[in-house]
Amino acid sequence: MKNLQSLITLAAALSGLASATPLVETRSPSKNVTSIATVNPFSGFNFFVSPVYRQEALEASAKLALHGNFTLSKKALTVATKISTFLWLSDTATISQIPSWLKEAQKIQQLTRKKQVVQIQIYNLPDRDCSAKASAGELSYADGGEAKYQAFILSVAAQLKKFPDVRVVLALETDAVGNLVTNLAVPKCGDAAEGQKRSIAFAIANLQLPNVSIYLDGAHAGWLGWPGNLGPTADVLAEILALAKAINPNAVVRGVATNISNYNGLGNNEQQGRDELVYIKNLQPLLAAKGFDAHFIVDQGRSGSQNYTREGTDWCNNKFAGFGPLPTTNTPDPLVDAIVWAKPGGECDGTSDTTAARFDEACISPNSLIPAPEAGTWFQAYFEQLLVKANPPIAALF
Ligand SMILES: *[C@@H]1O[C@H](CO)[C@@H](O)[C@H](O)[C@H]1NC(C)=O
Ligand SMILES: *[C@@H]1O[C@H](CO)[C@@H](O)[C@H](O)[C@H]1NC(C)=O
Ligand SMILES: *[C@@H]1O[C@H](CO)[C@@H](O)[C@H](O)[C@H]1NC(C)=O
Ligand SMILES: *[C@@H]1O[C@H](CO)[C@@H](O)[C@H](O)[C@H]1NC(C)=O
Ligand SMILES: *[C@@H]1O[C@H](CO)[C@@H](O)[C@H](O)[C@H]1NC(C)=O
Repeated sequence: MKNLQSLITLAAALSGLASATPLVETRSPSKNVTSIATVNPFSGFNFFVSPVYRQEALEASAKLALHGNFTLSKKALTVATKISTFLWLSDTATISQIPSWLKEAQKIQQLTRKKQVVQIQIYNLPDRDCSAKASAGELSYADGGEAKYQAFILSVAAQLKKFPDVRVVLALETDAVGNLVTNLAVPKCGDAAEGQKRSIAFAIANLQLPNVSIYLDGAHAGWLGWPGNLGPTADVLAEILALAKAINPNAVVRGVATNISNYNGLGNNEQQGRDELVYIKNLQPLLAAKGFDAHFIVDQGRSGSQNYTREGTDWCNNKFAGFGPLPTTNTPDPLVDAIVWAKPGGECDGTSDTTAARFDEACISPNSLIPAPEAGTWFQAYFEQLLVKANPPIAALF
């Protein structure tokens, strides 16, 4: 651990260089870190309520009350205070918030004697969201992104290490694997592909902690669930895991997260490409054949409304979506560790302003709610839509 600070310093110093040297902590071979991957990390734990989303949803509730909409305001209070969503690490600056999140989880554990599982999405890969435009991030390979991402991952690991009594579930880099499978013809994706595989492998190799459980990203049924994409998806996931093991032979992951930020159902549609459970059942044997014993978590945060025809391009602020089934370990199949809410419902997918730098056509599709603000910022009308269309319905807090 003593070397960590110097590694971070070294990584920062390297950040100007085009090709980065892989960095990894050396660990003693006697330390067995594989056990966390063999358990469902949610089992026996309480889902921690995100303080970030709580704040957003409390403000949304207050706005509704100010407009005299008390029914919806009270439902918003339930979403704010009772329902667990992922915390998103979407830039370097947000790392500084990790201690406050994990201290709150510790405090709840002390007060309630109930163990908390804190869910964090790491979403800062260089040339992120390379095929769409709406969620481009702060790092790029052309600008020293590889070394900067390594420093970013090592700082995240350093923060998590300070809280060994809090269980953390990490989902890594939503959309990345989908782009690696289907979008290599997009120049930004093709150019970033090898770097992105190395970067995700670096993250896996360096986030191996006794109380941290990792899920890679499997996009969703409507993207990778089709016959021609399943095999390539298993190939890419297995390749990334092998790269991680080449850095750290003890590297393990629990499985794959699907449907992050999308709208598909789980086990309510037999159609391939439309249902997450069909996708998971098709993908799991292909991964197992490559030695990757994968379990799954599935985002259902915006999956409440399933009776409309959705195309793969309908990813931006879908105007038919409602909040979906609540986070639980009670899932339709043993392959699924938990239903989760990964995308904080109400944070915008992308702006509808055609003149904005990150404008993407998908955000003005006939199926998108318009007008929409910048990706990641609060979209009050969308939050209200999710509440109104929630299935199962959200109960009022009081
Ligand atoms: C590490 O843990 C795994 C899973 O529990 C077990 O199969 C393996 O034998 C252990 N290895 C060592 C060196 O203890
Ligand atoms: C509350 O807000 C929702 C969503 O904007 C709207 O559909 C509903 O009509 C409003 N109810 C009242 C009583 O204003
Ligand atoms: C953290 O890991 C240690 C060592 O494996 C284990 O004894 C402990 O129960 C874990 N705690 C949590 C909260 O996961
Ligand atoms: C996640 O699940 C919801 C609801 O079941 C679904 O509507 C959505 O498309 C899924 N997202 C992805 C990325 O598959
Ligand atoms: C979905 O089904 C509900 C209940 O049957 C209905 O009210 C709603 O209009 C349907 N939505 C769409 C988009 O078909």
